[in-house]
Order: sequence, then C-alpha cells, then structure tokens
Amino acid sequence: MIYLAPLQGMTDRIYRNLFPIYFKGVDMAIAPFISSSKKIKPANNLLREFYPENNTGLPFIPQIMSARPEDFALLANALFDSGFGTVNWNLGCPFPMVVKKGRGAGMLCYPDRIASFLEKAVPAMKPRLSIKLRLGLKYSDEILEILPIFNQYPLDELIIHSRTGAQMYEGEVDLDRFEQCLGLSKHRVVYNGDIDSFEKYAMLSKRFSTVDRWMIGRGLLADPFLAERIQFGIQKPYAEKIRIVRAFHDHLFDEYLKRLSGPSHITSKMKEVWTYMAGFFENKERIRKQINKTHNRYHYTDVINQIFDDLM
Ligand SMILES: Cc1cc2nc3c(=O)[nH]c(=O)nc-3n(C[C@H](O)[C@H](O)[C@H](O)COP(=O)(O)O)c2cc1C
Repeated sequence: MIYLAPLQGMTDRIYRNLFPIYFKGVDMAIAPFISSSKKIKPANNLLREFYPENNTGLPFIPQIMSARPEDFALLANALFDSGFGTVNWNLGCPFPMVVKKGRGAGMLCYPDRIASFLEKAVPAMKPRLSIKLRLGLKYSDEILEILPIFNQYPLDELIIHSRTGAQMYEGEVDLDRFEQCLGLSKHRVVYNGDIDSFEKYAMLSKRFSTVDRWMIGRGLLADPFLAERIQFGIQKPYAEKIRIVRAFHDHLFDEYLKRLSGPSHITSKMKEVWTYMAGFFENKERIRKQINKTHNRYHYTDVINQIFDDLM
C-alpha cells in the first residue's frame, strides 16, 4: 500500500480530492496536522474540513498535534463522531516553535511524557490510534526507549520517518536504525523518508521485505506518477504525462481560486504548489524562477501557458 504523506499547506483536501482523478496507485493519505484545544465548538471550521461531503478523493486519516492527553482525546472523539475510526498522533514535527512547547518531535526525548500521555489518552479515546514519528529529536537512538512503551498499547500502526528532528528534512535517512525498529516493534511499521524514484523504492522494498506500506511525500508531489509505477508498473510516455500534469494543475488552480480571495493569494498558493511540483520537469530551477516572479493571476496564467507550450 502507498500512503500520501501529510504536508502542511500542500496536501489539503483540495489536493487530496483532485489527485486520484489524475493519478493512480495511492491508497490513502494522512492529513496535515490540526492542533487540539481545550474546547471544541460544534461549528468548528477545522472539523468541517474533514466532513465526508468535502472529502471525495483519497481516503484519509486525520492527524492531531498535541502534548495534552485530555485535549487530544476530546478532538479524537469528535473526529470519531464524524466518522473517523482511526486518528494519527504527530510525534515528528521538527519546527522550533513546536519543539519548544514539547510537542511533535519535541516529545521524543521524553519517553516518560509519552508514556503518561498514552496512559491517559488511550483509555479515553473512541477511535484507534496510529502514530507518526521520527527516530528521535537529536539522536536516532531515542526511539529505542519509546518502542517498548508503544508495545504496551493496542496501536493501529507506527509510521516512522527515518530521521531525527534535528535533521529537519535533509541529510541521510538512517536505514540501519529503521531496520532495528522493525525488530523491536510489535506493531505494523510503515516506512517514510526520501522515496523519490522507483529505484529507491525497489532498493527499500528489497531490504525491508516485511514492510508492505510505504508513505511518500515530496517524491509524489514532484512525480505524481510514482505510485502507479510502483503498484502497477505503469509507465506513460513523457508527452502524455505532461498533458496530465497540466490538467491536474489547471484543476487545482480553479479550485484554489474559488476558495482564495484577493489577487495575490492565488499566486502565493500556486508558488507553494510549484515548490514541489517543479521537480517533475527537467528545467525545474528555471520554471520555479519564472513562477516566483509572477505577481497576479493573469501574469501567472500567461507564464504557465508559456511553460507548458514550450514543453509540448
Ligand atoms: C512542508 C512540509 C510540511 C509537512 N507537514 C507535516 C504534517 O503536517 N504532519 C506530519 O506528520 N508530517 C509533515 N511533514 C513531513 C512529511 O509528512 C514526511 O514525513 C517527510 O516529508 C518525509 O517524507 P518524504 O521524504 O517522502 O517527503 C511535512 C513535510 C514538509 C516538507
């Protein structure tokens, strides 16, 4: 199975709704995190994002960021009442603001806090719990103290991004440590980190033959055909791929335009999309530069037409 990774600001419901219209092979997604708070209002906008009628694309599991078990359980139960049988806990976000508050990857160096969180949250929760985590905050062996704690609970699965928080999104993934985790966890483990080509996937699936679930983020955003290549061996000609990427892009643009007001909002949003999507093209740096110079939707559309005309 292939999961689309959560990327805050990128894999929102519009992206997840449109993706499977154009690309095959992704089975499900984890949504970017939402934070828990003490109260949940009935008309909570965040929850509305998750209503089934607004989410017609990839099936997904919502993700919660929290260091407070009571708040976590409250939000998890509200999500359960909206139809989600599983929620995911974010133990991987490496951003300093998050880490400073002891949330996300900031909790990985405090196994005792993780233990007491689970002790309170698990019995209070209606949905099943899956956890996405890194190997540690600063050191990749921090996870070795955490896995025995996880083993005491009936978790749905662990999704391991094989880096430390200190590494952010760069540097080598630690495959030896991941392998060690496979031996130590009694839960199903999903691999995550740097799958950006069929060859990389082939290497990983050969090495970790007991793993059958793979989470891909940036690699799929840059090459949305990667999952259909992996799962079905489909390889489309380049010209056809460009046509599909164009159609997907235009559809995303139209949907974001309906949602975003103000002339610069749509171009900022599309610039974000291109941070990753440009990876599909050979001349990615030039494309990113051209797009980053656009300042309104008309100028943006002209530049996009030019880019795709040159490619086709
Ligand atoms: C811009 C950005 C936003 C992210 N947002 C989230 C998030 O909301 N929740 C989460 O668990 N991981 C988040 N991640 C981490 C990814 O889900 C994933 O673990 C990471 O990018 C490694 O996988 P990849 O190499 O396949 O992209 C984010 C990563 C990036 C680059």
